[in-house]
Amino acid sequence: MDKVQVKICVGTTCYVMGAADLQELERFLPDDLKDKVEISGSPCLGLCRDENYGSAPFVTVNGEAIANADVNSIIETIRKKLT
Ligand code: FES
Repeated sequence: MDKVQVKICVGTTCYVMGAADLQELERFLPDDLKDKVEISGSPCLGLCRDENYGSAPFVTVNGEAIANADVNSIIETIRKKLT
């Protein structure tokens, strides 16, 4: 099975709004998810300029954007992609 692709925006807005802490995401993944997820950084995803998308930090999980991303919302979305 393909890994779930998690892209953490490291553009300036997201970075200052909390994406800096999300760089540690891998450490917080539950053991059963660790080998099913590929985490990478991304330049500005362009979402911080679109007010329909809520607020930074933004992360995408298999292309689905999460606003106000935190470790819990990311893990929840990863689990949805795996079901
Ligand atoms: S800086 Fe993250 S979407 Fe623009």
